[in-house]
Amino acid sequence: METAVYRITQENPLVPEMETLGEIIKRGGLVAFPTETVYGLGGDALNPESSRKIYAAKGRPSDNPLIVHIAKLEDLKPLVKDIPEAAEKLAEKFWPGPLTMIFPKSDLVPKETTGGLDTVAVRFPSHPVAKRFIEAAGGYIAAPSANLSGKPSPTIAKYVVQDMDGRVDAIIDGGDIPIGLESTIVDLTGDVPMILRPGYITKEMLEEVLGEVATDPTILNGNATDRPKAPGMRYRHYAPKGELVIFEGNKEEVISSINARSEEASKKGRKTGVIATSECADLYKADSVKVIGSRENEEEVAASLYRILREFDDEGVEIISSESFSGTGLHVAIMNRLLKAAGHKIINLWEEA
Ligand code: TXA
Ligand code: MG
Repeated sequence: METAVYRITQENPLVPEMETLGEIIKRGGLVAFPTETVYGLGGDALNPESSRKIYAAKGRPSDNPLIVHIAKLEDLKPLVKDIPEAAEKLAEKFWPGPLTMIFPKSDLVPKETTGGLDTVAVRFPSHPVAKRFIEAAGGYIAAPSANLSGKPSPTIAKYVVQDMDGRVDAIIDGGDIPIGLESTIVDLTGDVPMILRPGYITKEMLEEVLGEVATDPTILNGNATDRPKAPGMRYRHYAPKGELVIFEGNKEEVISSINARSEEASKKGRKTGVIATSECADLYKADSVKVIGSRENEEEVAASLYRILREFDDEGVEIISSESFSGTGLHVAIMNRLLKAAGHKIINLWEEA
């Protein structure tokens, strides 16, 4: 398949090419597009054949449900059986934006899109290019992240092309993605709202609107034998090719432990890399030291993480060590993704002290 690339930026999303891209979706084709979280791989959410094509293009198991993206609030109602009051409150506060909510699905949504589930995940993105594209495509776009299954989600167009060239009809290059981590997913089908995937909209922000909010316990303890409620969270994800280990502890000990690991690996002839905050970057010795941002700026850290994991793959780095980012707020989402990328390999130097 020949993949056309269109450059459409958020400053100027009202271009005539959008109609062509919308037609591709209406005919059952696939288009990768930017959102504020990560790039998405879009198809018609109401067409079972389109959903099958999405799974094939990603190489993703078809029991892992897709998120349905809308571009206006009125379009939620036809997708769901019921809109609980909590959802109305969250929509008012956080939509359009990086929040996905789970509802009991209506008959309009095919089971192919929901991976066989009776519930549907819905998101109303805020990225101007995403909004305009969803409208042009008829209003309902099913979209997972636009990476091959198992790779970090793309946050720059180069990596969408790397994974999807030849697999989709078109790619919209919308430039760099502002948030860089996938949306927060909240399940509203139980008694207490539950976070199934942490994201830019934090637990604290949700609790301000709803009161008590639970978190799927498997997210926090990383126990591989538990079954997370979001099927996609159980697959090994975001994994770089190199062996990634996270170091938690005081600054000096983290630096010396990471340098010791890199030195040992270098002696064996292996290529080493470090994920470093700007405050410490100069103190590491490795083949490739990547600055993820300032420790004072967690938004910068979130926005850089997936790009850095991909760069290590491009450079063939084999032994990767990272500083830790544990904490509250956005740190929860950053650590969730970093821990998954590391296969939960974390060395706690506080405990060893
Ligand atoms: O930010 C995002 O959400 C991005 C952009 C493109 O919008 N999309 C994204 O999609 O991250 P994907 O397919 O990579 O991740 C969707 C996650 C999976 O973990 C999936 O299992 C979960 O959402 N999910 C979807 N529908 C669900 C449902 N009905 N119940 C529980 N989990 C669901
Ligand atoms: Mg994904």
